[in-house]
Parts: sequence; structure tokens; C-alpha cells
Amino acid sequence: MIWKCVRSILFIFDAEAVHHLSIKIIKLSYRLMGAKMLARIFGAQTLETSALGMTWRTPVGLAAGFDKNADLVEILPCLGFGFVEIGTVTPKPQPGNPRPRLWREPKSLSLLNRMGFNSEGAEIVSKKLVQQKKRLPPGFRVGVNIGKNKDTPLDRAYEDYKNAVIPFQNLADYVVINVSSPNTPGLRSLQESEQLKPIVTSVQSVIQSWKPRPPLVLKLAPELQGDALEKIIRESQSWGIDGYVLTNTLAGEAGGWSGKKLAHHSLQSLINARRITHLPVISVGGIFSRDDFEERIQNGAQLVQIYTGWIY
Ligand code: FNR
Repeated sequence: MIWKCVRSILFIFDAEAVHHLSIKIIKLSYRLMGAKMLARIFGAQTLETSALGMTWRTPVGLAAGFDKNADLVEILPCLGFGFVEIGTVTPKPQPGNPRPRLWREPKSLSLLNRMGFNSEGAEIVSKKLVQQKKRLPPGFRVGVNIGKNKDTPLDRAYEDYKNAVIPFQNLADYVVINVSSPNTPGLRSLQESEQLKPIVTSVQSVIQSWKPRPPLVLKLAPELQGDALEKIIRESQSWGIDGYVLTNTLAGEAGGWSGKKLAHHSLQSLINARRITHLPVISVGGIFSRDDFEERIQNGAQLVQIYTGWIY
């Protein structure tokens, strides 16, 4: 009831303004109340899980795009999350697309965004993570989702992915190559094997000497189904990819749809991937409830992430 009231007030205002305000409120509450009180209010629980060669505090994480610049990492365990995927982080800072670039569609329980990788850049974001990492409870995992700068030509994208991951040594528990955002021109064409292989290889060349080497995961678009999905999974598996995040947002005319509009596609990607590979899948897209969570786990997801469900 209280949450519903708060939500209807917040939903009067511009979605991105509320996003930044929420981050400020969460940080302030943490400072004033402390971790224990906040965890009590949010009813944070743990449900230890094994996946990608590690244990996880709980199998529910915060999806990429909410904490793009690692502002909330140490607070998220108190809110009940078992992991966070920060980013997408680009190698150099960039502002993203002009505002407005985020809208709600309450009747369909969905969001539309064309943020376009607004990022403070890998150097700054990694520095913010250093102190926070020391304060995290055992089993809380940090994934680092990386992308390219808008002005980097597609045929040199592999350099951006490499430069974006370098500062995250000793900080990333897993690394995600994001080639599936609909809001950076041409990015999704990087899902083609001729373009994708150099990206995967160059990121692997950086992280293979890290101890322990973090698992390398691919985040794919929901439009990839059937033969196209099978092709990319089989090929990337042969290059040594360790798992998949399924899926990113559904491309619309003005940006990417998340939330309930995406739920069917995202579930379908999981089911199709499971027929092709035994590699771990982090399922994301339209998960709002415990039932949604259980459906994904029953269909073979090792972990799930939420974003739009959390907003609603
Ligand atoms: C996203 N998402 C996203 N994904 C990604 O890999 N990098 C990013 O920077 C972002 N940014 C982003 C911004 C906003 C405003 C939204 C709503 C989403 C996609 C996100 O991680 C997730 O894949 C989808 O939102 C689907 O999950 P939900 O929202 O339906 O739970």
C-alpha cells in the first residue's frame, strides 16, 4: 500500500528525473539508517546458489542499466539483491542520447528507453568500485557489462571492448559483452560472427591472466530466436564463452522495450537456448513476481535479473 502510494506520486514526474532522485534517496537512507535497518525494511533474504563457478548470495540480481556508474553497489545487498551488473560501461565517458530518453507505459507494465550508453567511462567507474568492493558481504557478485563508444567505428569496436574491461581487474566477478542494445547505431550488427569473434578474443586476451579469471558472458537481443540464436550460441561456445544473459530490450521505433512487453520473448530465448547449450543462462526480461522467477528457474535459468519489475 505504502509502495503503491509512493509509486503513484513518483510516476507523475519525468522517468529519468525520478531515477536520479531514487538513487539519491537510496544513498541517503543507507547513510541515515545503516545497512541492517535498510535490510529489515526491504525484507532482504539470502538463498545461496552456485553458478558460473561461484556461489551467489541469492540468484536475483539488478540488471544492467540501473546502476550504470556503480553508485549503489554496496547498498544493493541490503535491498535484497544477490548481485548487480553495472554498466553498460564504455571505455571513454559519453553523455548518451539527448533527453527525454526514458518513458513509462503503466498499462502494459513496460518501459521504453533510448539512453544510448550514458557512461562516466571505465576509468572513473572502476575507481568507484574499489572501495565498495571491500565492504560487500560474502557471495554478493558484481558483473561488469561493457560496450563501445558511439563514435568508434564498428570495425574497431573490439578495441573499445578491450579498453573498457582493462580497469576492472580484481573488481569484476563476471564480465558481459553487450552487443544487443538497440540504442547505439549498428551495435546489434556486432552479433554477427565475423564482428563478434574479434571482440570476444580481445576481451579474453585481457582477462585470461586475471586470477581468478572471471567468466565471460554474452548479452543477446530478444529478436534472436531459432536458427540465428542457435548459430551465435554454437559459435560463441566454441570460442570459449562461459554463459549468456538473455535478453536485452526489444527494439521498437523509438528505443528498447523492457518489462511485460518483453517477458514472452525473453522466456522463449531461455527455452530455445536450453535446447542448444548447457552453459549457464542469466534470464532477464519482464520478471515481476516470485512466480515469474520460478518459471525462469524451472525453464533452466541459473540466475535471474530484474529492472522494470523493480520500478513498478
Ligand atoms: C536497460 N538495459 C540495459 N542493458 C544493458 O546491457 N546495458 C545497458 O546500459 C542497459 N540500460 C538500460 C536502461 C534502461 C532505462 C532500461 C529499462 C534497461 C536492459 C536491462 O538490463 C534488461 O535487459 C531489460 O530491461 C529487460 O529486463 P526488465 O527490465 O524487463 O526486467
